[in-house]
Amino acid sequence: MDKMQDAIEILKEYNQEHIIRILEKLDREKQEELIKQIQTIDFHQITELYNNTKKEIEFKESKIEPLKYLDKAKLTDCQRKKFDELGEKTVKAGEYAVVTMAGGQGTRLGHSGPKGTFKLDVYGKGKYLFEILIENLKEANQKYGITIPWYVMTSRENNHETVEFLEKNNYFGYDKDFVTIFTQSELPLVDQEGKLLIGKDFKIKEASDGNGGTYSSLRASGCLANMKERGIKWIFIGSVDNALLKMVDVTLLGMAISKNVQIASKSVVKANPHEKVGVFCKMNGHPKVIEYSELPKRMAEQRDRNGELKYGESHIMCNLYTIEAIEKVSKEPLIYHSAFKKNSYIDEDGKEVIPEEPNSYKFESFIFDAFEFFDDIAILRGKREDDFAPVKNCEGVDSPKTAKELYEKFWNK
Ligand code: UTP
Repeated sequence: MDKMQDAIEILKEYNQEHIIRILEKLDREKQEELIKQIQTIDFHQITELYNNTKKEIEFKESKIEPLKYLDKAKLTDCQRKKFDELGEKTVKAGEYAVVTMAGGQGTRLGHSGPKGTFKLDVYGKGKYLFEILIENLKEANQKYGITIPWYVMTSRENNHETVEFLEKNNYFGYDKDFVTIFTQSELPLVDQEGKLLIGKDFKIKEASDGNGGTYSSLRASGCLANMKERGIKWIFIGSVDNALLKMVDVTLLGMAISKNVQIASKSVVKANPHEKVGVFCKMNGHPKVIEYSELPKRMAEQRDRNGELKYGESHIMCNLYTIEAIEKVSKEPLIYHSAFKKNSYIDEDGKEVIPEEPNSYKFESFIFDAFEFFDDIAILRGKREDDFAPVKNCEGVDSPKTAKELYEKFWNK
């Protein structure tokens, strides 16, 4: 009973009385589960994160400058040959691994399962996003005569379904010994008043804490140690929802090796000044990506002498790291951003509420916030039509329809 009282005190202190009312109605077993969870939650951190949602993020523009990049289409033959050879050598030596971030909720798409299990309606029969990714890896394996270890990050919410799906589909022919599925960390969801949501299991509803969680989760899950055992030197980390993602780009890898950097990334030019993508820049002398929601309008529209957007290199979640870089950032705490999303919850009468509009904040760290821990990053500008077919929204821009068109156009070429 002491534990119950302690939990009630915590909930009162942090204005979570609605949970007390739910807690009091639960049976003994459910009560114990919820109390146990309350003991593990950092309410102080959640309150701070919620309070931050009310603050405006300000950038001192004077400290921001554009970041240099190389355009893949404009490399000289000599540069291209050099990069490709360096990259190929590393891949063939078995020193390259790929991580897919599949822990997101995919709320905008509205697909009921994990995003990787979404079937893109391509070529009549359709292909699952996981299937498309695996095909891309298999193609590289064949080309370089090896099997690249593939690590898939899930969330606690979608892990079971992801494993089941890949098992059922026999990993789309990928060698299972080279697939590792690991789960990322989580944080509670809060509504507009700062109240924690309760899920169908009568526990505080938690969700994956952003793709920035990849680094620490790679360490905590033992994947990093496993990579070291395998002799991996370079790690590619990409998203699950880009149907044109090239996970083994030897030019990008060779460029990173040749420039002797710890991190590299592929960009594409922003489709328009207000496209909802983050853009690369240098802030206070360090590489950084500014999210679209945080980039001041004036900067988003600024152009250079050639008429190109000054901040036009968009981050497409196509990032490459040395294993030392992952080791380093896996120990660094990243800041959390808030995303306003649709999340169902249980009300005080125990009824499930499925909102039609965004109703709650999800706190997420972003993968690119780790770039600031480095002095430099090598950027390779790719081509939108070759490298970027995101599946984000259920319709309109970056939807299954646009991704299908881009995918089919690329493969018909
Ligand atoms: P997004 O930020 O686009 O989020 O993820 P999302 O969850 O897929 O979609 P919305 O915003 O809810 O509609 C970009 C990539 O980062 C992964 C996603 O799975 C996707 O590959 N991600 C995102 C994670 O792995 N974990 C997270 O907590 C968030």
